[in-house]
Amino acid sequence: MCGIVGYAGTGNAAGEILAGLRRLEYRGYDSAGMALWNAETRRLDVVKSVGKIDSLEKRLKKELPATRSAYAMGIGHTRWATHGAPTPANAHPHVSDNGAFAVVHNGIIENYQTLKKRLAADGFSFKSETDSEVIAHLIQQCYEDDLTRAVSAALKNIKGTYGIVVISNLHPGVIVAARKGSPLAVGICRDKTIIASDISAIVQHTDRVIFLEDNDILTASANDIEVMSLNNIPISREMTHIDWDIEQIEKNGYKHFMLKEIYGQPEAIADATRGRLLEDEGSSKLDGMQMSAGEMASVDRVLILGCGTSLYSGMIGKYFFEDFADIPTEVQQSAEFRYRNPIIGDKTCVIALSQSGETADTLAAVREAMRKGATVLSICNVVGSTIARETGRGVYLHAGPEVGVASTKAFTCQLAVLAMMALRFGRTHRLSLQRGEEIVQSIRRLPEYIRAVLEQKNAIRKIAEKYAQFKNAFFIGRGYMYPAALEGALKLKEISYVHAEGYHAAELKHGPIALLGSDVPVVGLVPKIPGYDKTLSNLQESKARKSPVIAIATEGDRHIMEHCDDAIFIPECPEFISPTCAVVAEQLLAYYVAEKLGCEIDQPRNLAKSVTVE
Ligand code: F6R
Repeated sequence: MCGIVGYAGTGNAAGEILAGLRRLEYRGYDSAGMALWNAETRRLDVVKSVGKIDSLEKRLKKELPATRSAYAMGIGHTRWATHGAPTPANAHPHVSDNGAFAVVHNGIIENYQTLKKRLAADGFSFKSETDSEVIAHLIQQCYEDDLTRAVSAALKNIKGTYGIVVISNLHPGVIVAARKGSPLAVGICRDKTIIASDISAIVQHTDRVIFLEDNDILTASANDIEVMSLNNIPISREMTHIDWDIEQIEKNGYKHFMLKEIYGQPEAIADATRGRLLEDEGSSKLDGMQMSAGEMASVDRVLILGCGTSLYSGMIGKYFFEDFADIPTEVQQSAEFRYRNPIIGDKTCVIALSQSGETADTLAAVREAMRKGATVLSICNVVGSTIARETGRGVYLHAGPEVGVASTKAFTCQLAVLAMMALRFGRTHRLSLQRGEEIVQSIRRLPEYIRAVLEQKNAIRKIAEKYAQFKNAFFIGRGYMYPAALEGALKLKEISYVHAEGYHAAELKHGPIALLGSDVPVVGLVPKIPGYDKTLSNLQESKARKSPVIAIATEGDRHIMEHCDDAIFIPECPEFISPTCAVVAEQLLAYYVAEKLGCEIDQPRNLAKSVTVE
C-alpha cells in the first residue's frame, strides 16, 4: 500500500529517498512527496506531486531551492488515496502549522475527525483532507524541546493504525519513527540510517535490518539508533539478516517483473523445497513449524486462513491435507474469520498464508486465533514480516522478493510448502511410507513440470492475443481445478481488467450459464484427473451456448479438440501437481492478454501489493 522512506546520512538525501521510493512503486500509489531538511536555510523543503515518481523527480529538480548536497536528512512517501483524492495537498509529507515538523504516515487514524475539530478549535489550520495531517499538528502541540517525547505524546491521542516517520528543522540529523499496525523496518548501515515500510527500499544499502514492533518508537541519526516504548522505556530489538539481494528486485531484461517472476518459478520452487524433502522417510523437514510428531499426530482439524491469491492456494492446501493426512480441513477468508466468533478446538491447527506477511485481515485473524489458544503456523514469503514474527513458527517460502503486484511465484511456492506440510502431517497420521515417497518424488519434479508449461509460451501467447478483445470470461474446474479456476479468473481480471469469474464447473448450470454466448469465452480446466469427463460435459454445454472454449488439458489428450476451440497443454502429472501446472498456464494467459491490451502489468490500477488496511 503506501510506502515510506526516511533517510539520515551524510548527503544527497533526495537521491537516496527517491531510489527507495522507486523500490516501493510496486506496492501501488497515486501520488508522492518528500520533505528534506535544508542545511542552508535550516528549514524543511517540501515537494509533492500527483502520479508517478518520475513526476516527483521532475518537481524536485525544479523546485528544490538548494543544491542536493545541502540535504542530508529527509522523508518520502508514496500515497495510495484513502481519505481525500490524490492531490498535491493530500500527498505526504504533512507539515505542522509552524513548518517545524514533517510527517509521513501509513495506516488509518480512526479518530481523526474528533482530533481535527479539536486542533482547529485550538487554532491549527488544515491544508489537506487526510487523516494523517492531524499527526503533524499534534506533534507541534505536544512539543517542548524533545522530538521523540513530542511524537510519543502525540501518538497517545491517536486511535487507529500507523507507521510514521517524522523530521523537524529543530532537530537536524534526527529521525523519529513509530509503529502500530503498519510495518516499519530500519536498515543499519555505516554513516546512514534508512527507515522504510518495506525492506525492498533497504536491501540496496544493507542486509542488516531491525523490524519495529507495535508501540515502538525509534530515534535515529546517521550513526545511532535507539528503540523505546511509547512510555520512554528502552527496548532491545533483534537484528535480522535479509538474504535478498539487489538483483532479485531488478527486472533483469524481462519486460515486466510479473513475467520475470512467472519464469522464475522453477528456481523459486527449488529454493522453497531445498533441504526440506526427506526421500528416505517419505516426509519433509520443516523445522520452523516447531511441532513434534506427537503434537502433529494429535491435530484433528486444520483451518487455513488467507486473502486473495493466498486464499486460493489455501483452498488447494485443503485438498493436500485431506488427501495426504486425512485431517478435515477448512479454509476461511481472513476477514470472515476475524469478524465471526470462530470455533477453535484445542486440536485445531491454524495455518495463515500470506506472501507479504502484512495483510491486515490475515494478521487480525492470526491474533484472534492465538487469543483462542490455537496452534498457529504461518506460511509467509517476506522474512521478518509481522505475521511471521507474531506467529513465531511457520515456514518461509524463500521464493525471493515478489515485486509484481499480481502474485505468481508466491502462489506456486505456497502450494509446494503446503504440500510439504500436509505430507509431514500425513506421516504422523495414516500416510504410508510408500505414498510419502511418491509425493516427495513428485514435489521434487515440480520445477521440471513448470518448465514444461513455460515452454508453451508461444502457443499461450497466440491464444491470449486471439481472445484479448473479449470483455468477459469464465474459468471453470472441479476438485483441485476449482481453486485453480478461481485463481485464473483473479489473475486475468487484476492485470487485464477483463471481467472474469471463476466457478466450480458444476455450478455453471446453477446460474452463470445464463450469461454464456459467443462473446463470453469459457476457460475449462480439464487435465486428466478425476472429474475430467464431467468437466468435458460442461465444456460441451458451453459450446452449445456458442461460448468459445479454451481448454487447459493434459499433453497428449487426443480428444480434447472435440470439446474446445483452443487448447493449452500442461504435462501429464500427479493430480496434486496439476493445479500448479494449470495456474502457471493461466498466469501466462493473463499476462499476454494484459500485454496485448497495453495494461500496466506490474502495477494494475487500484491495486496494492500489500494490503495493510482493512
Ligand atoms: C493477487 C494478489 C492478492 C494477494 C492478497 C493477499 O494476485 O496478489 O490477492 O494475494 O492481497 O496478500 P498476501 O498474500 O500478502 O497476504
